[in-house]
Order: sequence, then C-alpha cells, then structure tokens
Amino acid sequence: MKRKNKIFRKVIIVLAVLALLTGCAGQEPEAEDTRTPTDDNLIVVGVSQEGSESVWRTANTRSVKETLTKENGYFLIFKNARQKQENQIKAIRSFIQQDVDYIVLAPVTETGWDTVLKEAKDADIPVIIVDRMIDVSDDSLYTAWVGSNFKMEGQKACEWLNAYAEAKGMKEVNIAHIQGTIGASAQIGRTEGLEEAAKEYGWNIVAQQTGEFTQAKGQEVMESMLKQHDNINVVYCENDNEAFGAIDAIEAAGKTVGPDGDILVMSFDTTNAGLTDTLSGKIICDTECNPLHGPRVEEIIKKLEDGKDVDKKAYVEEEMFAYDDTVKSVKVDDKDYDVTKITQEILDKRAY
Ligand code: AHR
Repeated sequence: MKRKNKIFRKVIIVLAVLALLTGCAGQEPEAEDTRTPTDDNLIVVGVSQEGSESVWRTANTRSVKETLTKENGYFLIFKNARQKQENQIKAIRSFIQQDVDYIVLAPVTETGWDTVLKEAKDADIPVIIVDRMIDVSDDSLYTAWVGSNFKMEGQKACEWLNAYAEAKGMKEVNIAHIQGTIGASAQIGRTEGLEEAAKEYGWNIVAQQTGEFTQAKGQEVMESMLKQHDNINVVYCENDNEAFGAIDAIEAAGKTVGPDGDILVMSFDTTNAGLTDTLSGKIICDTECNPLHGPRVEEIIKKLEDGKDVDKKAYVEEEMFAYDDTVKSVKVDDKDYDVTKITQEILDKRAY
C-alpha cells in the first residue's frame, strides 16, 4: 500500500504530541506518541485499546506493542480508552487526522461504531477489528476482524459443567453469574452460552450481574450475591479477574471453593494467574480466550501491504483446562474439544 502524505502526517503527529504534552487533548500522553517517524518506510498504525481492566488485557496490549515495533517496521500510536467508547471514538478521529496507514480497534462494546468508521472509510484508512466484534450496518466499514468465538467458549464451558455435575452426582446446580462488560462480545457470547445451557439442563441462575471484567467489581458483586442467596454452588465468572474477586469474597464469607468445597468457580481467559488457581482447584475449569493478537494483526497488515486478500473474519483456536480429568472432552456442534488437566509443567510453558 502506498505511503500517504508523509510530510503532512509528520507535522500532524508532532502537533498532536505537543497538544498531548501540554494537556490540551485531555488524555495522558503515552510513550509511543512521543516518538517521531524518522524512517519514511515505517507503517503508521493507530491502535485503540479498549482498556486495561484485566490481566488478559495486559497480555493483549503487550502482544500488540511487542509486535508493532519500529524494528519490525511500524510506528505505533497506542491509545488506552479506559473502557469508555467515547475515548475510542476520540482516538479513532485523532488517527484519521494524523492520516495513519491503518487503524486497529479493540472495541469495548459491539454497537455505536457506524459513524466514526464511516469517517475512517471516507479517509481511505483500513480498519482492523481485534478481539471483540462490532455490530455495524455495513460490513465494508472494517477490513478484517480477528478474535475469539465467545459463544463457543461459553458452550464449551457449559458442556464441561454438565458432564462434571453428572459425574459428581450434583442434585442441583445453582449458579451465580458474574457477567463481563454489558454489550461486549465476550459478555454476549458467554452469557448466551450459559443461558441456553441453563434452559436445556435445568440449572438455576440464581443471580446475574455485571462484574465489568474487573477483580474489584467481581468481588463486590459476589459479596452481595452471597448475602442474598445461600444455595449458590457454582459461580460462572466471565473472566479470570472476576473469578479472583469472587474467590476472595467467597473465602471472606467463610465458605470454601474447589472440588471438595462449597462452591465451584468457573472462569474464562486461562491467564497464568487464572491457571495457577486452576492448579489448586480454586478455579475448577478455565476456558481459554487467547490474547496474543499482535502477530495476527501484523499478518493482516502484511497481506494488505502486499495487495493480498485477507479473511473478513478469523476465529482463533482455543483450549480448555480443568483442575482434574473428571471430564476429558466436551462436544459442541458435533465437534469434540479436549479438556486438559492442568499441571505445573503445562503452566510453565504457557506464553501468557
Ligand atoms: O474481550 C476479551 C475479554 O476482555 C477477556 O475475557 C477479558 O479478560 C477482557 O477484559
């Protein structure tokens, strides 16, 4: 792809940096903004990251920053939106003003992107969506998406719970459901997976509330659920950080977690900290959501640079881990997925 008006862009970037440094832009200056593209061959990429709410997100940001480096041929402008869509829209508009070569968007929620992405399209800037999906009226507003099949993650987790509950002879399954950020694909998919399974298997979802994918909120929500319901025996957390908060709340309330405890805690992400809790049984089953999207984004950019076609949507392969091998595999849509019993050796080899 032809490099755009470099001189104009350099001037704009320097002005933007000055504005940020003098506080005019209302956002903290970020390290990447303070560099100048000394090499005209650098590909300028504006990344709007939705936030820094979880350890998963930290791994995701690291993957993007470690891939889109100057050494690899990129000039990265990285903006953390702190889980606010308005900040993401502002960031995208600033990328358009700076005439970047590509925009990468990790969206906080699915809806609300039509107008700003139309502006990016009119400016002829390809937009790559990463991680969560967007819901737009016109698919040509983005070039490619890469991320997880969140509904499938939820379905796999629920098939595991069904098989585990049967194997252990659980008479009732009373679930506290701590949801992610409402309207995010990760929440929508994992919630759908649970609600459909609850209907099919006759489980009770006794409480349902958002934990916003954070440890603090997960703990707060769990505390209040425990006060209102004394029959909870499963907590379905929509990410590892919520699970950490829920475990703290359960233990503080004098109850126990784990295979022989009062409550089974289920989670998503399989971060190192999450799988460490799986090894001890505090998290009984952790379903992977892979955050290492940096190289995947780079592959898309390289193909576009070479004038090649890219997949409009690409799902990443994901695994499942459990405390023990009670359930060895689960079936979703006629396909079998292995469940791996976590060990220290496996944990030590994990990339995140
Ligand atoms: O969109 C992916 C989700 O967002 C991860 O499960 C969660 O940890 C993150 O905050």
